[in-house]
Amino acid sequence: MSGVSETVPQKTFYLETFGCQMNVHDSEKVVGTLVREGYRQVESVEQADLILYNTCSIRDKAEQKVFHRLADFKKLQAEGKKFGVLGCVAQQEGEKIFERAPHVSLVCGSASYRNLPEMLVQLESVPAGKRERRKVETENLVRITGLDDRQTDKCFETEFTARTNPHRGYITIIEGCDKFCAYCVVPFTRGKERSRTSTSVLAEARQMADLGYTEIQLLGQNVNSYKDPEGKKTFAELLAAVGEVAGIERVRFTTSHPRDFGRDIVEAIDAVPTLCDHVHLPVQSGSTRVLDAMQRLYTREQYLERIAWMKSAKREISITTDVIVGFPGETEADFNETLSLLDEVGYDAVFSFKYSARPNTPALGLKDALSEEEKSRRLEVMMALQKQMQIARYAKYVGRRLQVMVEGYNESRGQWIGRTSQNKTLNFTASHSGGLRIGSYTQVLVTRSFPNSLVGESVV
Ligand code: SAH
Ligand code: SF4
Ligand code: F3S
Repeated sequence: MSGVSETVPQKTFYLETFGCQMNVHDSEKVVGTLVREGYRQVESVEQADLILYNTCSIRDKAEQKVFHRLADFKKLQAEGKKFGVLGCVAQQEGEKIFERAPHVSLVCGSASYRNLPEMLVQLESVPAGKRERRKVETENLVRITGLDDRQTDKCFETEFTARTNPHRGYITIIEGCDKFCAYCVVPFTRGKERSRTSTSVLAEARQMADLGYTEIQLLGQNVNSYKDPEGKKTFAELLAAVGEVAGIERVRFTTSHPRDFGRDIVEAIDAVPTLCDHVHLPVQSGSTRVLDAMQRLYTREQYLERIAWMKSAKREISITTDVIVGFPGETEADFNETLSLLDEVGYDAVFSFKYSARPNTPALGLKDALSEEEKSRRLEVMMALQKQMQIARYAKYVGRRLQVMVEGYNESRGQWIGRTSQNKTLNFTASHSGGLRIGSYTQVLVTRSFPNSLVGESVV
């Protein structure tokens, strides 16, 4: 039998993702949606009919990346390829993207992904190819937009999520943000805060465990601002419940907001061994004056109180943070307070950024902007201090035995790559290879340390 129905070639798409874990996970859901609609994912723009970028707008540099990509591949439009911009730049810039990059046919923010199937149908009805290209450009035929007006109260849930890792995976529990920090685009790009029911989160966790996942990472812009629409569970209770799902060995959660960080989270970590001993708690600044100008809703002292709760936990909790240097009006004294806070807390990692003025945000109009040179200087001073602190902190692990999840094997170094519960990279050798495979767990004795990683030997 010759398969007549097989003659229609399968539509293909390429998707590149920028930005945070929320975007990475959204992309897994978008891929799942496209696959369900009959598309096949390909590894290069050249192979694709549809080229999608899931974008980030957190700093200006991140935003510019997508316009560079679009410019680089514009010529491919002549071959009939279509372009779509998803994510935070899509939501922020909206239809302006069509003006800046007229070869784009689809602009869709994250709160409208549930409408993607209909948008794809519209997109397919759009003429493509050399002949029609002129028409597209001159008559502005193809302008499909999915832009949220912050009114949605739904989370994006898919029937099929194309997770890229078979051992550890993300679950979004809350989307959007209502905090409106003075520097941040997220409340504008991601819409208002909305949580999923604990019932659906737990169902997804059980489904993942059944598929063989052993590590789950709960995601949200502010994961601990979670409010169960069914009123059944607090964030800490949900965390514990996910940690108790049969088959789940590790649970992580990110990002926590200091204002909503309750002691019950530390108590949950104490009580449930599968909850990882790592908390990412962005501080942004060590100066209460700057925190106030940033509209962060907590003081230095309140932040340090939360750190003290973590330090009194039964297990040693690894703490990491984000810092913005050079917020408008940040004085040398303010900056020194951030340095002293770093010293006081003792972080295992600090993700530090130079302040970047962003559209729509309240800080955009603030006076007393710092020069790029001064921001760079402060960033370097801070990174140098943190590096010294990390050298000392990581050195303390030498001689200890830690459990790792195996993440890969580095052929050239002859080393396995592992991750500890505290989220540290621990590269190790093994005289035996019995049972070691990606996704398995093993005990490793730490023998050396670096500022960002550990080295050891498998001891099982
Ligand atoms: N919801 C999280 C942060 C998400 S954005 C929180 O409140 O902590 C990730 C990080 O990007 C932020 O923690 C902040 O350090 C940084 N960031 C956000 N906006 C920025 C801006 N305009 N300039 C520089 N860094 C920024
Ligand atoms: Fe941005 Fe602040 Fe919301 Fe975090 S809490 S996403 S920094 S507005
Ligand atoms: Fe970027 Fe949007 Fe995430 S701005 S950091 S991709 S929420």
